[in-house]
Amino acid sequence: MTDKSNVDEHTEASEAQIAVHWKEEQYFQPSQTFIEQANMTDPDIRQKFGEANFPDCFKDYADMLTWSTPYTKVLDTSKPPFWKWFVGGKLNASYNCIDRHLAQYRNKAAFIFVGEPEQDPPVAMTYQELYVRVNEMAALLRDFCGLKAGDRVTLHLPMTLDLPITMLACTRLGVIHSQVFGGFSGQSCGSRIQDSGSHVLISTDAYWRSGKLIDHKVNADIAVQTAEKLGQHVDKVLIWQRYPGKYSSPTPMVEGRDFFVNELLQKYAGKQVEPVPMDAEAPLFLMYSSGTTGQPKGCQHRTGGYLAYVAGTSKYIQDIHPTDTYWCMADIGWITGHSYIVYGPLLLAATSVIYEGVPTYPDVRRPWRIAERLGVNIFHTSPTAVRALRRAGPEEPRKCGHHFKHMTTVGEPIEPSAWRWYYDEVGKREAVIVDTWWQTENGGFLCSTIPALDAMKPGSAGPAMPGIYPVIFDDNDEELVKGSGQAGNMCIRNPWPGIMQTIWGDDQRFVDTYYKRYCKDPQSKDWRDWPYMSGDGAMQAADGYYRILGRLDDVINVSGHRLGTKEIESACLTVPEVAEAAVVPVMDEIRGRVPDVYVSLNAGSTGMPGSGASADVVDRVIKACEDMIGKIARPRQVYIVPDMPKTRSGKIMRRVLGAISNGLAVGDVTTLANGTVVEEIRVMVQGKHAVASTDAIPEDIAKFGQHD
Ligand code: WT7
Repeated sequence: MTDKSNVDEHTEASEAQIAVHWKEEQYFQPSQTFIEQANMTDPDIRQKFGEANFPDCFKDYADMLTWSTPYTKVLDTSKPPFWKWFVGGKLNASYNCIDRHLAQYRNKAAFIFVGEPEQDPPVAMTYQELYVRVNEMAALLRDFCGLKAGDRVTLHLPMTLDLPITMLACTRLGVIHSQVFGGFSGQSCGSRIQDSGSHVLISTDAYWRSGKLIDHKVNADIAVQTAEKLGQHVDKVLIWQRYPGKYSSPTPMVEGRDFFVNELLQKYAGKQVEPVPMDAEAPLFLMYSSGTTGQPKGCQHRTGGYLAYVAGTSKYIQDIHPTDTYWCMADIGWITGHSYIVYGPLLLAATSVIYEGVPTYPDVRRPWRIAERLGVNIFHTSPTAVRALRRAGPEEPRKCGHHFKHMTTVGEPIEPSAWRWYYDEVGKREAVIVDTWWQTENGGFLCSTIPALDAMKPGSAGPAMPGIYPVIFDDNDEELVKGSGQAGNMCIRNPWPGIMQTIWGDDQRFVDTYYKRYCKDPQSKDWRDWPYMSGDGAMQAADGYYRILGRLDDVINVSGHRLGTKEIESACLTVPEVAEAAVVPVMDEIRGRVPDVYVSLNAGSTGMPGSGASADVVDRVIKACEDMIGKIARPRQVYIVPDMPKTRSGKIMRRVLGAISNGLAVGDVTTLANGTVVEEIRVMVQGKHAVASTDAIPEDIAKFGQHD
């Protein structure tokens, strides 16, 4: 920190405001009908998962799985923070998700696929059919691609049945899947191929989005070229077809490299592949996520602990029974979809709905029509989707005939007014709501109410999950008193089975990112000395409920998904005229946060502020963000500034730009090297009149850029 005086002043103001940002809300109770059927009704559950019973309490979750070799030790802490869970145990993920259900549920739907075009009827895939397809695909991956346990494969698939079939086929062989969100660009996919060392890319020709059949094969070509440039050769590209037997992309196939999955599968019709028993600690998949530096990190999740944790949390928190029809309207390309569309529901033999398209296509009633038609009784979505559906059609859900017993929200803080609309209108006051806080790194929920046991409180994620012991540190690294209502850095004191194993190929970054700051003794073998740092701000109310206040690092949460400011800045810097780039989060009514971009240009470049060429630079900066990351990274605004506000030591003051973008006062800038430019930028963005905001400022916005 180079600018201490400003920082302190800023911090004090924000802490006080945070405490009043959202008022404490009244409680809502679950209905008797819900409680009577709930999976978890034991009032002693948190005590049973209390520290006195740690780590053995997690046997309860491991018992929900079928092990081919039983584990001998629940937790090994001999090499902190590289915990080992269910040591010595062996199991296979696809066996647990499919084979073991066949005797009882062979002809029950595992998935129901709903394509975006509404005239296409939903397609139900039974557990038996899933078994057949996964076996055939596993045979193809093994015999045609030569893949074996421990190899990595990159998937860049949209929301169709091909995605879980491919994932489960990988796990049958012990192959580590790395699914890249379908909406990410070819270049994003390519850098993840390189990082994971995949030789095979599995993609698709096309998929539907907002009424358009989008060419996706083109991204496969870009991904392979990008990986190649970075030094990773891809031998084979497997292309699923949105309409089997018909190629729906204008992008040509590359002879000898690209193959249609449907054609190859003919050779493997009816083939069966023995599920390979995998060590509990064998990596199951990688999920890339953004961090504070440019390069996304491959969160590596283990087989045994991860599956146990998602089974347990799906059962107790999602309240999934085999008889339920469950719809999580997230994308499988994010961790939410891995844990709570594919693995969790399937481990519990439920029926999980996969919807291809956007929730508001062709109109805002679409989700409620789908729910009614399929008899969905558990619904799971993000605050962003709740806000968007509310804005477009506040009266629509009540006109529709769906009935939910349970609803989930995840990904961002949900403001009490949006929560109440979700409860009153979508849930029709019949459904319980769980506000689940967790992260890509965590495997499953860390904070949530237990739906039949805890009252709901809008705006609060609820108490910690059973077996999760949080602690909040203040800015001086002191533990805050439990229930103090003070904001601080949210940490988890203990290991849990769903925590990632490491960052793929970068153990040091794993330690540095999550454990270094609060580690009490780097030599210690005691887990109590190794709190996990989440990177979120939070406060705990007197009733023990946690309110999550948002990211405290250089990460922007857009629609519940993480983007690194540094990642977006490096995309901007690929535009030749751009000399410097700074990305800041801006509050957005629907999407929570969106990025604003500030760029200064190289001397002599034609796109100087106000010149005709500047519009062209702006367009190319936007395009660079979309091409290198994906449409989700599209900036709200790109401002070309004459110079960046900087400290005397030359650091860009992102904090100042963040304040300007959010319509806030910039505070004292007299210590900056070039203070006068601040007013110039402020006028450019906010207009001539100073904006004196008296609203409470969310923690992440208030603190953004302070650690620069
Ligand atoms: C970040 C993690 C795994 C969930 C999907 C996003 C924010 C997540 C909540 C919630 C307030 C939340 C946090 C977290 N977040 N859930 N219920 N209330 N904030 O996964 O992309 O890894 O992002 O999302 O800031 O750190 P992710």
